[in-house]
Amino acid sequence: MGSLSGSSKKLQVIWGLVVVFGVLGLRGVECRKARILDSFEYSAISCRAHSASITDFGGVGDGKTSNTKAFRDAINQLSQYGSDGGAQLLVPAGQWLTGSFNLTSHFTLFLHKDAVLLASQDVNEWSVINPLPSYGHGRDAAGGRYISLIFGTNLTDVVVTGDNGTIDGQGAFWWQQFHRKKIKYTRPYLIEIMHSDNIQISNLTLVNSPSWNIHPVYSSNIIVQGITILAPITSPNTDGINPDSCTNTRIEDCYIVSGDDCVAVKSGWDEYGIAYGMPTKQLIIRRLTCISPYSAAIALGSEMSGGIQDVRAEEIVAINTESGVRIKTAVGRGGYVKDIYVRGMTLHTMKWVFWMTGNYGSHADTHYDPNALPEIKGINYRNVVAENVSMAARLEGISGDPFTGVCISNVTIGLAKKAKKVPWTCTDIEGITSRVTPPPCNLLPDQGPEKIGLCDFPAENLSIDNVEIKRCSFTRNYL
Ligand SMILES: *[C@@H]1O[C@H](CO)[C@@H](O)[C@H](O)[C@H]1NC(C)=O
Ligand SMILES: *[C@@H]1O[C@H](CO)[C@@H](O)[C@H](O)[C@H]1NC(C)=O
Ligand SMILES: *[C@@H]1O[C@H](CO)[C@@H](O)[C@H](O)[C@H]1NC(C)=O
Ligand SMILES: *[C@@H]1O[C@H](CO)[C@@H](O)[C@H](O)[C@H]1NC(C)=O
Ligand SMILES: *[C@@H]1O[C@H](CO)[C@@H](O)[C@H](O)[C@H]1NC(C)=O
Ligand SMILES: *[C@@H]1O[C@H](CO)[C@@H](O)[C@H](O)[C@H]1NC(C)=O
Ligand SMILES: *[C@@H]1O[C@H](CO)[C@@H](O)[C@H](O)[C@H]1NC(C)=O
Repeated sequence: MGSLSGSSKKLQVIWGLVVVFGVLGLRGVECRKARILDSFEYSAISCRAHSASITDFGGVGDGKTSNTKAFRDAINQLSQYGSDGGAQLLVPAGQWLTGSFNLTSHFTLFLHKDAVLLASQDVNEWSVINPLPSYGHGRDAAGGRYISLIFGTNLTDVVVTGDNGTIDGQGAFWWQQFHRKKIKYTRPYLIEIMHSDNIQISNLTLVNSPSWNIHPVYSSNIIVQGITILAPITSPNTDGINPDSCTNTRIEDCYIVSGDDCVAVKSGWDEYGIAYGMPTKQLIIRRLTCISPYSAAIALGSEMSGGIQDVRAEEIVAINTESGVRIKTAVGRGGYVKDIYVRGMTLHTMKWVFWMTGNYGSHADTHYDPNALPEIKGINYRNVVAENVSMAARLEGISGDPFTGVCISNVTIGLAKKAKKVPWTCTDIEGITSRVTPPPCNLLPDQGPEKIGLCDFPAENLSIDNVEIKRCSFTRNYL
């Protein structure tokens, strides 16, 4: 990358680096020729042979200058190294205003801890793309959708990471447009990766997304780790992480405060999702902390028409959150939610610990099939401690299509002072329980206290757990 580095004559002060002025042989040469070595290490699924900084492409981190062209030029140039060891692009400390840009394969975007990507509020910087085929429609408006800030499609081996650098969606502008019903297309997300394989999104802070934060869709082998997501708890549809028709995904060590579900697992909407037929399966969610007073820590659905299977959630902490691991579905959705395993939840101040809804509205259009009934079965929860809860459970299956194989064991729920009089309500539900307080509804008969470990949690790893994370280094000379 000598040619790229060479274009930047300006000496830069970079973090965590070894600044080598007047090294042995260079002693006495003029300062301009001093070598500043930008060098650090980080963890990733793959390391890169070529390195560059956004400043090499005319980037200016003053918070005012648009860097859209710099990002597009940089990634366009660096894409040529895809078959030659790949490339990594550093975003140094600074405020980098930018419109949307597209990622490339065998590529790493690294945000310095004091780097902030500021999403442009100029609507012209956001191209409009087609609705997702498994949804048929956009979410905010039936037609197109604004492309996400960081977008990738048909890629392999992509890393978006940093030393906890920030991506600021500057969402207030979009939320206002949405509330005023002035939105022509669906609002952008911060990061969307489509039709891709081997993806890592890690060690970043995402704030004030216009809508959803991280949306991997039609993709596989995805690691999302060490992400902080912050949005006002009243902001519309600021879901944290939405794995959607994805296989083999691992979401770990994330802290999310948002105006919608912290994690929402999806797979397409009604007749469009049924036709596309791509499930979300083999999903791990562990060590998640969620604050979301009007939504769930983890929602399964409501768009689940391609199916959701084999979800393993562990060590979930929720504070001031509406519900824990919630199921949302409806007649017309079709699909399934099955083999769901939840182990270890610590919950404080919740409306419902367990919530399943079979009559969740919001259809794509009126053409949904009224005979497309979802199949909900094998839903396991164990080892849950909750405090200050308004109601233990509200479990509502579908008449003529009960939710079956519900298993709840080793659960202690402390009710709030102003709790509902009846802690459990259950309709069209079948299942079993052991050691649950307060005592569950009659549809979930107690199997006796010795069955404390009643509910299943698979012992074997999923393949995404065995992905090797390497130590990578970034080294770049400024001459
Ligand atoms: C994230 O950062 C932590 C240190 O804060 C580090 O241990 C971990 O390996 C990083 N993970 C990834 C995937 O970048
Ligand atoms: C990014 O990719 C999308 C989808 O392929 C495309 O519509 C858009 O024009 C691309 N943007 C740029 C700047 O190349
Ligand atoms: C991306 O992949 C999808 C699914 O394999 C395919 O239908 C689509 O044509 C591909 N798009 C491009 C631009 O290659
Ligand atoms: C990352 O930054 C966010 C926001 O400043 C902070 O809350 C979080 O603790 C930081 N994470 C790490 C691992 O330093
Ligand atoms: C019951 O749940 C508590 C709290 O999560 C946990 O500490 C304990 O080990 C569990 N007991 C069994 C037998 O699994
Ligand atoms: C308990 O929950 C109520 C809301 O239901 C909340 O107002 C109150 O602050 C909570 N108390 C504690 C001790 O967290
Ligand atoms: C299972 O995954 C964990 C990482 O989550 C790893 O430490 C362990 O070695 C894996 N076990 C096997 C048998 O591969």
